[in-house]
Amino acid sequence: MKTLLKIVGGLAGVLVLVAACGYLYLMFSYPSVPPPRTDVTFDTSPERLARGKYLNDHVVGCTTCHTQRDWTKFAGPVKTELLGAGGDKFTRAPGSDLYAKNITPAAIGSWTDGELLRAVTQGVSKDGTPLFPLMPYPHYGALAEDDIHAVLAYIRSLKAIESIVPERTLGFPLNLVVRTIPSANTFGTRPSPSDTLAYGRYMTKAARCTDCHTPIDDQGTPLPGMEFAGGMAFIETGYRTRSANITPDVDTGIGSWTEQQFVDKFKGFEKPTNATLSEPERPQNTPMPMLAYAGMTRQDLAAIYAYLRTIKPIINRVEKFPDAR
Ligand code: HEC
Ligand code: HEC
Repeated sequence: MKTLLKIVGGLAGVLVLVAACGYLYLMFSYPSVPPPRTDVTFDTSPERLARGKYLNDHVVGCTTCHTQRDWTKFAGPVKTELLGAGGDKFTRAPGSDLYAKNITPAAIGSWTDGELLRAVTQGVSKDGTPLFPLMPYPHYGALAEDDIHAVLAYIRSLKAIESIVPERTLGFPLNLVVRTIPSANTFGTRPSPSDTLAYGRYMTKAARCTDCHTPIDDQGTPLPGMEFAGGMAFIETGYRTRSANITPDVDTGIGSWTEQQFVDKFKGFEKPTNATLSEPERPQNTPMPMLAYAGMTRQDLAAIYAYLRTIKPIINRVEKFPDAR
């Protein structure tokens, strides 16, 4: 009996030691990314700023997430007087709340271009904090480097706004897992728009459609084999909403939509009415940043459509607005 106790005690001791070593290893060896580059300076010419503004306002959506939104109106337009000041809360796993940070010069004005580039493409903040990938750095790090430079040059030109953003909370094991996610990136190339499919794939990644249209498990991990099949849940609007199936399945996805219908669906919101939604309309409001995407060019939207036509059709019927009656 004594020997058994000794063995069990010994084993428990070994386990504790292994766990402690693992913990220390995670804390000291991660996040594992190179130091911020010192050889980058963003080009702030009017052409690059215009490109950056187009991408930010209509595609990559930095200020869509990093600005509080007004959910009393269709698709939650951003509060323009607070552009980039952050503060909105995002919850993708129970017990884990993230807050979009202030990205105006009041907060990141003292960061070098290299530090900003590292945060946005590799996921490590200036002070070394690993960012949760709801901040879509895995996508941004794979875009063309000149596109990201243009966006960041534009972000630097926002009006400085002071704001206080709450600290994030990450439950176990996400608080440890988050350390392992940031990594060195390899920039991609932007295909020529004439190569419609490759270009559409690039724009779909840049517009991070998959981040909302692929269902996730309770730790926020995308379900394998369900890309673009919809069903991911949101509460940002104040009501439960679920993303649509945008695979080419005819019955449950967008398989029966023509290019014209798809493009018009977005373009129809280019000049929003700005009307306040009535109480019965609110449960059918959408967290999808439609007003932002509506400003994409018809060519860019058509390319996204063309790419979405080529992904695997998945049968998945989604009730988008379960709180509507
Ligand atoms: C889907 C929403 C979303 C989008 C889109 C987004 N971000 Fe973020 N971002 C966040 C969240 C949430 C955090 C905080 C993450 C955390 O605390 O782990 C963050 C963190 C950051 C940080 C770190 C700030 C700090 O003080 O540590 C920077 C810089 C940043 N984002 C810049 C950008 C830029 C530039 C873009 C566009 C290229 C962008 N973000 C797009 C949600 C978003
Ligand atoms: C912030 C999360 C979010 C992002 C990002 C997002 N969507 Fe959505 N999308 C939703 C939700 C939720 C719905 C369901 C509510 C609705 O119909 O608006 C939806 C609905 C749609 C619909 C309507 C489908 C139907 O059956 O009526 C289409 C089409 C669509 N999304 C395409 C896209 C494309 C393309 C992108 C990228 C350019 C994208 N979405 C990015 C959340 C998102």
